[in-house]
Amino acid sequence: MKFSIWRQATAASTALALLAASASTNAASGPTPEEWRDARAAAAGLADELAHLCPVAAPGSQSEFESCRKGLYNNSAFRDKLNPIVLWGRQRNANATLAATSLTQFAPDVLTGMYLPLFMFNGKHTIAYIEGEGLFQIRLATAFRNRLAPGQFPYPFWHDAEKWATYQGANEVILWWDPAPGRVKVAQFTAMGAQPPIAISEPVAAPKFDGQWMWSDAQGKSQPKVTLFDGLFSSDNPYLVKLETSYKVLALRLREGQCDSCHVPNNPDKSKRLVLLQTPVHAAGEIQRLLKAVRDDRMPRDEFGIESPLDAKTKKALLEDGEAFAKVVDAAKRWEAQAREPTLANSQ
Ligand code: HEC
Repeated sequence: MKFSIWRQATAASTALALLAASASTNAASGPTPEEWRDARAAAAGLADELAHLCPVAAPGSQSEFESCRKGLYNNSAFRDKLNPIVLWGRQRNANATLAATSLTQFAPDVLTGMYLPLFMFNGKHTIAYIEGEGLFQIRLATAFRNRLAPGQFPYPFWHDAEKWATYQGANEVILWWDPAPGRVKVAQFTAMGAQPPIAISEPVAAPKFDGQWMWSDAQGKSQPKVTLFDGLFSSDNPYLVKLETSYKVLALRLREGQCDSCHVPNNPDKSKRLVLLQTPVHAAGEIQRLLKAVRDDRMPRDEFGIESPLDAKTKKALLEDGEAFAKVVDAAKRWEAQAREPTLANSQ
């Protein structure tokens, strides 16, 4: 507890001073025995839950993927332990610090609804304290579901052959655990773990990427399906169609505002902390931050990274359509929460 009192005492100082001081204090003293005990218990709890919700299965099993997704997205303890903005990405260099590593910022909804469920777990894990980061590192044995249909991935990971290869070859998911709030701050996947993946699947050759983050399938349905709340919300949720149409309107505004020249998976601006907005689920996770950034004229930026506010008309239209989308997202979530209650009661 000494640790948390110390944190409070310094809360008023600048974020930079806090970061620097926190790293050196931790490095000097390391975690207390209680912090070690708590972190070990948290790691075991997370690993057990992941193995329970997302056990090893055939890497193309749609039903196993869906039950893992639903379990993680709806009230899992894992989800409760994620930082409100959690960083996610692949480990490319085992020696790089987190500060030097490019990662994507996600809301817990997005990580639990689309990314983490692509992995399977068996409960095996290790834990270490990494002094330089001031964080515990929990390494979970894993394997990736590389044989799902293309519309089950949040975007075509194969737009970059190396990224697809790392996903497919992943043998560990790494959770960076901050003992003070008791939360996962960063999650990574790596193919550089010591053990082979916990399920064997022949690699799938990177399919051809045509430059589209969303596309229409042969039936004219929008893809990737997972990015339209498919499998997260009930199929009779009355807001599903509106979610898609109101996102499409917003997407046009984002294009007018040049937002998609930076906020897309191939990261043209080479951001170290990318924010993704290119599908309904991604945008829903960021919609309040999006509205605030535009209202405050902090976005968009020019090619030098300098704020370059939109003209009044474009800004107004973006805010209106963004707010309309946000309302539909809220309504859809409220409906889901209400619809789930009676079902739970009936099943008891
Ligand atoms: C030239 C590149 C660029 C353009 C264009 C751009 N952004 Fe950003 N945006 C960034 C960067 C860089 C960050 C900060 C993330 C980081 O630190 O790398 C950011 C952060 C954000 C965030 C995170 C919240 C925050 O306040 O930090 C949101 C939301 C966002 N941008 C929305 C938008 C919207 C909406 C548009 C279009 C109106 C837009 N951006 C246009 C580069 C850009």
